[in-house]
Amino acid sequence: MTTEAGQDAGARGDTAQPTPGIVDGPRGLPLLGNLPAFGKDPLAFFEQLRERGDFVRWRFGRGPALFIAHPDTVGELLTEVERTFDQPDLGIAFRTLLGNGVVVAKGADWRRKRSLVQPSVRPKQVRSYAATMTECAVDLADRWSDGQPIDIKREMAALTQLIAVRTIFGVDTAADAEAIGRAMDIAQQEIGAEFSGIGAILPDWVPTPGRARIKRATAVIDAEVSRVVSRHRDGDTERPDLLSRLLAARDETGARLSDQEIRDETVTLYIGGHETTSSTLVWAWYLLSRNPQVRDALTEELDRVLADHEPGYDDYASLPYTQAVVKETLRLYPTIWLITGIAKEGATLGGRPVPVGTRVWSSQWATQRDPRWYGEAEAFRPERWLTNEDGQPAEQIPEYAWFPFGGGPRVCLGTRFALVEAVLVLAVLARRFELELCTRDIRPVPSLTLQPDREVIATVHARS
Ligand code: HEM
Repeated sequence: MTTEAGQDAGARGDTAQPTPGIVDGPRGLPLLGNLPAFGKDPLAFFEQLRERGDFVRWRFGRGPALFIAHPDTVGELLTEVERTFDQPDLGIAFRTLLGNGVVVAKGADWRRKRSLVQPSVRPKQVRSYAATMTECAVDLADRWSDGQPIDIKREMAALTQLIAVRTIFGVDTAADAEAIGRAMDIAQQEIGAEFSGIGAILPDWVPTPGRARIKRATAVIDAEVSRVVSRHRDGDTERPDLLSRLLAARDETGARLSDQEIRDETVTLYIGGHETTSSTLVWAWYLLSRNPQVRDALTEELDRVLADHEPGYDDYASLPYTQAVVKETLRLYPTIWLITGIAKEGATLGGRPVPVGTRVWSSQWATQRDPRWYGEAEAFRPERWLTNEDGQPAEQIPEYAWFPFGGGPRVCLGTRFALVEAVLVLAVLARRFELELCTRDIRPVPSLTLQPDREVIATVHARS
C-alpha cells in the first residue's frame, strides 16, 4: 500500500510522530471513487482509513481527497484554516437559513463578525446565562416522576431548545419560545436531510421539496426574529441575553451590526448550539446508563459538592468529575464528527505540500478513538481527564487528539456555553434521577450531527 517514502503507515502503537508516508485508501469505483463506502458508513470508513495510516489518499467522487488522522496534522489543518485552507461551501440549505452569519462568512467579513459575536459568549457572559440553564433543567426535573418512561432524545431536545431560545432571544413567554423553536426545528431537520441525502450533491439551483420547506421555515423564523428584535430595540432596560449584547456590539469603526446581520448571527448561534448540545446530553445519558460505576462516581461528586443547593455557574469549577463525564462523552460521541478544508496555494501538512484543490478530511470520531492516544480507547473512562494527586494529568493526551469543538481561528464560539450547559443540566438531573435505558443497541448516525439512530427510551428512577 505504501506509495511514498517507503513507510508503512499502518505500523501503530509505537510512535507519537506523524508517519511520513502517504498511503492509498481502498480502491474505489471508476467514477464514484470511494463515495459508496463513505456514504454507507462514514464512521467505519474513516476508522478503516485510520487503520491504514496518518495520511491516506482517497477519492470523494472524482475529486482528490486526503484523510489525516494524526493530532499534529489535525492541529495544522485547524490552525491554517483561512490562511492556506478554505472551509468548503456549506451549501444552499445552510445559506438559506444562516444567511451570511459567522459560520458561513469568510475572510475579512468573517473576522469582523467573529469579533462582534465573541464578546457575547465570553465566560463573564456565560455566567449570566447559567442561571437560565439551571432554571430550565430544574423545571424539567420537577416534571419527571419515579417510574415514568421518557424519550431521552425528545426530552433533551426540548430542554436545550428552551435554553437556547431564552438565552439567545431573551423571550419570556412559552408561546414565543415555541414559535421560534418549532420553525427552527423544521429548518434544522430539513438541513440534516439535505446534508446526508441527495441534496448534498445537487447543484444549488435545483429546486427540491426539502429546499422549499427550508425557505418556508426560514420565512417564519425571519418574521419571529424581527418581532423579537423590535421588542428589544423598544425596551429601555438592559436584558441579560445574547441578542441584547449583539445589539450593543460595535466594530472597530464604531458601526453596529445591521438588522440582517443580527438576524443571521442569532439564528447561527441557535443552530450552532442547540442540536450539538442536546445530542451530547443524550449520549451522556446513554453512556452513564451503561456504566453504573461512572454513574456512581458522578452522583458521589454531585451529592458531596452540591449538598442542598441547585448547581450554578460558581459550582462549575468544583465539579471536575462531571466535567470529565462531558469531555469523555464528546470524545466517544463527538456530535460534530468531521472537519474538512480545501487546500489553497502554499498549503502544507506534516512538511509536505498539499496540491491546490485537495479536500483534506479530519474526523473527530476516528482520531478520538485512536488507541495510540487513549488507553482502552473504546471504554467510557472519564477518569482519564482528571489529574492525579501530584497534579499531573491521569493520561498524557496530545493536543488535538480531542477536538470536538474544532480548533484554531474557527474554534467553536460556544465552547464555554456548551460545556457549562451540559455540566449544569447533568448536575441538576443526575442528582435527582437515574435513567435506566430500555432501548438496546443504539447506533450513531452521522448526519449533520452524530445522532442516535432511534428514539432512546428510558425509565426515570428517583434517587432516594
Ligand atoms: C457540544 C456542543 C457543541 C459542539 C460539539 C460544537 C462544535 C463546533 C465545531 C466543531 C465547530 C467548528 C467547525 C469548523 O471548524 O468547521 C463549531 C463552530 C461554531 N460553533 Fe459550536 N459546538 C457546540 C456548541 C455551540 C454553542 C452552544 C454555540 C453557540 C452558543 C456554538 C456556536 C458556534 C459558532 C458560532 C461556530 C462558528 C465559529 C466560526 O466559524 O468562527 N456552538 N462548533
